[in-house]
Amino acid sequence: MAGKGLGAVPNAYATSGARGRMRATGSDPTTLKRLAGETAAEEVHDGDVVGLGTGSTVEWTLKALGRKVAEGMSLLGIPTSLRSESLAKELGIPLTSLEEHPVLDVTIDGADEVDRAFDLVKGGGGALTREKIVAAASKREVIVVDPSKLVERLADRFPLPVEVVPMAVPTVRRTIADMGAEVVVRKADDGTDMRTDNGFAILDCRFPGGIGDKRYVEQEINNIPGVLENGLFLDMTDRIVVGTEDGPVRLDTGQWLGDRPVH
Ligand code: 5RP
Repeated sequence: MAGKGLGAVPNAYATSGARGRMRATGSDPTTLKRLAGETAAEEVHDGDVVGLGTGSTVEWTLKALGRKVAEGMSLLGIPTSLRSESLAKELGIPLTSLEEHPVLDVTIDGADEVDRAFDLVKGGGGALTREKIVAAASKREVIVVDPSKLVERLADRFPLPVEVVPMAVPTVRRTIADMGAEVVVRKADDGTDMRTDNGFAILDCRFPGGIGDKRYVEQEINNIPGVLENGLFLDMTDRIVVGTEDGPVRLDTGQWLGDRPVH
C-alpha cells in the first residue's frame, strides 16, 4: 500500500494501452462495471495472494479470476465478505486466510465513491470492516468502478456507512448527527435492522455538501464508543480502473477523468 498525496492533478487519461483496446458496447452500468471488473483481473499475477472485494463490479473480477484458475493460474484469495467467499468457492478460486498470509500482493475491490485524491467511501454492501482490514494488509489496492462513482466531495450523494455495535446505535447515531450528518439506520429487505457479516448494525451518514476534513471525520467517528469502523478509505488506493463508454481506463495517483463529466 503506497502513501499518497493529492499533488498536481493533470487532466490526463492513464496508462498506455488502457484505452481503445476494448470498447464498451453500451453505457449501461452493468456493461461498464463488467469492463472495469474484468480489466482489473489483469492486475493479478501467477502466485499472488489476492484480496477478493465485495460488490457487483468486483464480482466480474472474481469471475475472470475463476477462469484464470481454471486455465492453470496459481493464486490464493482472501475474501472480504461471506458473499465473496461463497462466490469464490463456486468459481473454484482457492482460498486462504490472513493467519496464513498476513501480507497480500494485491486487493481488488469496488467503491461507492472515489474522489481525486483516490480516497473512497465504501460499505454499500456492508462489508467495509473486512474490506478495510484486507486493504490495509495489501501491497496494492486496485479499485474498480463505473464513472458514476467519481465525485468531487465524499459522502454528499452516497452516505458514509458506519458499522456499529447494535446496542450503541442510539448514542452513535446522535453523536454523528451532532457532527452535521443525516443519519439513517440501514434496513434489511424484510424491514428489520440490517446486520453485517460481523453481526453489527450499519448507520448511513450523509454529510450535506460532502465531507471537508476527511481525516478529522474518520478519526472522530472511529473514536465514538461502539463504532467498529467507518467506510472512509483514506490513502489506501494505488490504482482506479474505470469502465467508460470508450473502454477501460486505468488511473494512477494524480490522474483523473479530467475532461469528462464525472457524475
Ligand atoms: C461493499 C462495497 C462495494 O465495493 C461497494 O458498495 C460498490 O459496490 P458495487 O460494485 O456493487 O457498486 O464497499 O461493502
